[in-house]
Amino acid sequence: MKKHRVAVVGCGALAQGAHLPNCRQNPRIELIATCDLDRNTAEKCREQFGASRTETDWRRIVEAKDVDLCILCTHVNLRGEFIIPALESGKPVYTEKPLAPNRSEMIQIVQASRRTGKSVCVGHNRRSGPAVLEFKRLLDKARKTAASFLPSVDRSEGRPVLPEEKGLQLLIRVNDDLRSWKHWVYGDQEGVLFAEMVHFIDLALWFNDAPLVRVFAEGSSRGNFALLLRFADGSITNMHHTMVGHFDYPKELFEATLRNITIAMDQHIEVRQIGLLDEPVQRFFPFSSAPGRSDGQGMQGYMQAVQEQLQGVKSPDDHIRWIGVNKGHAAHLDRFLDHIEGRGPNPCDIEGAVAVNSVALKLLESVRLGLPVAVGPEDWHIP
Ligand SMILES: NC(=O)c1ccc[n+]([C@@H]2O[C@H](COP(=O)([O-])OP(=O)(O)OC[C@H]3O[C@@H](n4cnc5c(N)ncnc54)[C@H](O)[C@@H]3O)[C@@H](O)[C@H]2O)c1
Repeated sequence: MKKHRVAVVGCGALAQGAHLPNCRQNPRIELIATCDLDRNTAEKCREQFGASRTETDWRRIVEAKDVDLCILCTHVNLRGEFIIPALESGKPVYTEKPLAPNRSEMIQIVQASRRTGKSVCVGHNRRSGPAVLEFKRLLDKARKTAASFLPSVDRSEGRPVLPEEKGLQLLIRVNDDLRSWKHWVYGDQEGVLFAEMVHFIDLALWFNDAPLVRVFAEGSSRGNFALLLRFADGSITNMHHTMVGHFDYPKELFEATLRNITIAMDQHIEVRQIGLLDEPVQRFFPFSSAPGRSDGQGMQGYMQAVQEQLQGVKSPDDHIRWIGVNKGHAAHLDRFLDHIEGRGPNPCDIEGAVAVNSVALKLLESVRLGLPVAVGPEDWHIP
């Protein structure tokens, strides 16, 4: 088995919560270096996750002869400046989302990747989440068939097929809690609409077959917004974000309807469908961190676990433990290792991520103008 010698640059919340533990647990990875501007953070992570050394200057990672893969987990304050020389020194890069803060930086990264032949994988990790993959499998199946039984109320006999019956109608609901975000997000003009919604824009583009033609955003880019994506075949994806929810209520719900089949993915622990006779109506996916004493599954197990913990809450200052779900971080990185070894596609290649970022930038334009904005391939195609 090939061992990939990895350096993690930027050892903050996400690196400590996902990439560093995933590196430690992955037998294909040897963690060589933890690098952070803050020496104490880099040193703490070296010790906790078993790296060989620490650095505070990312240039030392670019130059290092004993590192063959970099994982970049800073904010967009560091992207092209690091990624381009890393690629030039022969190192593929797994970068956290968003890929870059603007179009010119994206172009430079794409050109460096093409020039060097070294891959960049973007951390749109939900593409590798087991429940999301199941949701996508059912969507693909629904596209090829029609509902396999009639609804309990059916008055369709003799009615002609309407043009609106084609396409996919998709809701993505994100229940967010502004108390959980670091303070930079409130000063940052792009806000959560850019920093976080790239995950869901990526999925919307992946789930839809037809070209995207128009986007519209209403609300504040910091949070509390609705995003509409209109596709050429009449499909609409509607993304609803709230920042005034409770963090411990399940965050993510996707609900797709097409060809009279309804498919839902709830919080990465449950996938439901009605319309496909040969598929179960409900399928469960394991929690990634123990939800308390309850051995329940899916949404019911989640809510039971919250209920059990609430018995220990005695004052408004108390909080409960976070219930972890699998959003695909470990699998996304592992699939990138396969790709580097020539054994599979890049799970989120850079050209796809450019489209996602470009759509996010168009949505920012829409929210500032208060108007729908047309989009087309020229917005993300890089010659
Ligand atoms: N894929 C996901 O599920 C997911 C989840 C959360 C965050 N993220 C993304 O991960 C990135 C980091 O988010 P976070 O919440 O961990 O932020 P954070 O602020 O906790 O961590 C960032 C770290 O980078 C370090 N850093 C900044 N500039 C540096 C530089 N020039 N050289 C070395 N270190 C530097 C900081 O000192 C800090 O420790 C963001 O881009 C965010 O959008 C992704």
